[in-house]
Amino acid sequence: TLEAGATARARAHSNIALVKYWGKNDVVLNTPAVGSISVTLDALFTDTRVTFRSGLAADEFWLSGCRQEATKVARVLDLVRQARGTHLFAVVESANNFPTGAGLASSASGFAALAVAASGAAGLTLTDRQLSILARHGSGSAARSIFGGYAQMHAGSAADGSDSYAVQLLSGADWPLAVVVVITELGAKTITSTVGMGASAASSPFYPAWLATAPGDLADMRAAIAARDFVRLGELTEYNCLKLHALMLTTRPALIYWNAATVAAMHAVRDLRASGVPAYFTIDAGPQLKVLCLPGDVPFVQEALSNVAGVHEIRPSALGPSAFRLD
Ligand code: PMV
Repeated sequence: TLEAGATARARAHSNIALVKYWGKNDVVLNTPAVGSISVTLDALFTDTRVTFRSGLAADEFWLSGCRQEATKVARVLDLVRQARGTHLFAVVESANNFPTGAGLASSASGFAALAVAASGAAGLTLTDRQLSILARHGSGSAARSIFGGYAQMHAGSAADGSDSYAVQLLSGADWPLAVVVVITELGAKTITSTVGMGASAASSPFYPAWLATAPGDLADMRAAIAARDFVRLGELTEYNCLKLHALMLTTRPALIYWNAATVAAMHAVRDLRASGVPAYFTIDAGPQLKVLCLPGDVPFVQEALSNVAGVHEIRPSALGPSAFRLD
């Protein structure tokens, strides 16, 4: 039996999808309708401690000392309890090294750190694949944050979700790239991705085209990564991002995640590219941009984006490592 007081700590880094997922196969298993490919970000991470305790009536989730709603956290902990054969609830203490809820993918790093810390505290030895599946139950993008560098999430088709997990394609050292995070809105509140993707699937006439064209984008991105072809990777990243936003814009009611500074920054990146610096943007379900560039070009990207009205903060990042135990 699991002893009360069993505890573990873990760190996981955020990631940004180059070929994105939007839409679910199964809402209970939280399996995505399409695969995705991402890079993990060194500059953005979550540290999480999980401690199983006696005398708790439910799981507790604390983020930077503030009590949070624990429904999704409990979903992951339920699976760990089931695998370990325990009824103990847990206290989860988490902290991000970046602003939470501002569209910087805190759920990706958060649920990956939770999967590693919770299974560690329970004394389970899980494979990376099992950790990826566990993290997926909290957030689809979290399945990719188990891995550093470049990761591909497989949508899978098994009825139990057992083939819906991420794998590493390359480490960051295999092909170093930089990602410049551009914050255009502090504390942005957006429609959650789960609600947004459900609405898109139900109402956008572009959703069938989104599903039909995903396999081709994934194959092209895999080829670009295998060939270390940055221009091909960048063009495909920007195209896939704009295709996702076309789907969001044609959802009813419309999902408009951009603000004026988001659009100005998109133009600044394209102008920079026209002047000879290969740089490409991507944007998730929020107003922030991530700009991909070669490590030596980071100063040019920072300079170009710092001149854009409405840009609050610019954070350059290298590619980050896999999730790991801190104790
Ligand atoms: O991880 P979720 O379920 O919150 O969804 C993430 C959706 C996007 O960030 C827009 C795309 C992606 O693949 O990360």
